[in-house]
Amino acid sequence: MISLGIEGTAHSIAIGIVENKDNACIVLSNMIKTFHPESGGIHPREAANHHAKYVADVIKDSMKKAEIDFKDIDLVSFSQGPGLGPCLRTAATAARTLSLQLEKPIMGVNHCVAHLEIGRGTIDSCDDPVLLYTSGANTQVIAFAEGKYRVFGETLDIGIGNCLDKFGRTIGLPFPSGPVIEKYAKKGRKYLPLPYSIKGMDIAFSGLLTAAQQYYKNGETVEDVCYSIQETTFAALTEVTERAMAQLEKKEVLLGGGVAANQRLRGMVEEMAKERDARCFAPRIDLCIDNGAMIAWLGLVMYQSGIRMMLEDTGIDQRFRTDMVDVSWR
Ligand code: ATP
Ligand code: FE2
Repeated sequence: MISLGIEGTAHSIAIGIVENKDNACIVLSNMIKTFHPESGGIHPREAANHHAKYVADVIKDSMKKAEIDFKDIDLVSFSQGPGLGPCLRTAATAARTLSLQLEKPIMGVNHCVAHLEIGRGTIDSCDDPVLLYTSGANTQVIAFAEGKYRVFGETLDIGIGNCLDKFGRTIGLPFPSGPVIEKYAKKGRKYLPLPYSIKGMDIAFSGLLTAAQQYYKNGETVEDVCYSIQETTFAALTEVTERAMAQLEKKEVLLGGGVAANQRLRGMVEEMAKERDARCFAPRIDLCIDNGAMIAWLGLVMYQSGIRMMLEDTGIDQRFRTDMVDVSWR
């Protein structure tokens, strides 16, 4: 079975095409077009206009790369939420149009659950992980328990990627700043104490962001501030992930989201897993960031488990929470 997935929760419109071979996900193509605002943050309507302008081209490119024809597509999947309303509506409209035109079934999927399932689908021995999902807007520790993917810990204010990007903006770095901060951090030597706020299983970053901005204004070097931000935030993320693994007695950890590209974060989580005799998995980077292949794969998994969606069920949900999904396929 071949599924085409449309991802459009925020800054990117992405199309992935995947196939199921013996319950493993084969990615035939995974193309992305990202909206870059001229200045400041992302305006939802401007991002949606960008997605509407490029969605047909990205579909064509993805089809070409996958070397398939429209008649080969068995299912159209799309990101139903959570995300920015105008962007979600654009992706959903494209999915409905394609489904009607091709006379093929449609499946709306939860974006956060897709980040987890793509790890299970593409990594052979990854079966029941705790997902540390770290992206721009989202920071969550997710695991399967009693029929659902549940959020065991999450940010109480901003996402970790957002925190890095906001600090980057303060010091004049372009968006996204995460990769540049990583480079500076490698050269940092002095650890500057920053607020480490973990409340139960939840984390907060905005106090840390303000303190880091203050250090920079007071003349500390960019390298040392970036190093201290990474050390503090990543340690907190690793601590919450470890606690979830201990409480749930899970032996696998999976990384997802754009910040999972960071070598220092990967290193810390790998070390923690090793100490617990657990395994650490990270999908390749184009499957870590927001992408169409993960949407295509989750749609396919849901469809093959017997789930069906009517056109009237395809409304978007900006606040589609991870634990609202009945995980009947596991
Ligand atoms: P979502 O809608 O799932 O929240 P998103 O669109 O905000 O996702 P992703 O595309 O998953 O995010 O990731 C983008 C974020 O990842 C940005 O905040 C960016 O700064 C960060 N990032 C990318 N590479 C790195 C890196 N090497 N180190 C740290 N952060 C990184
Ligand atoms: Fe995401």
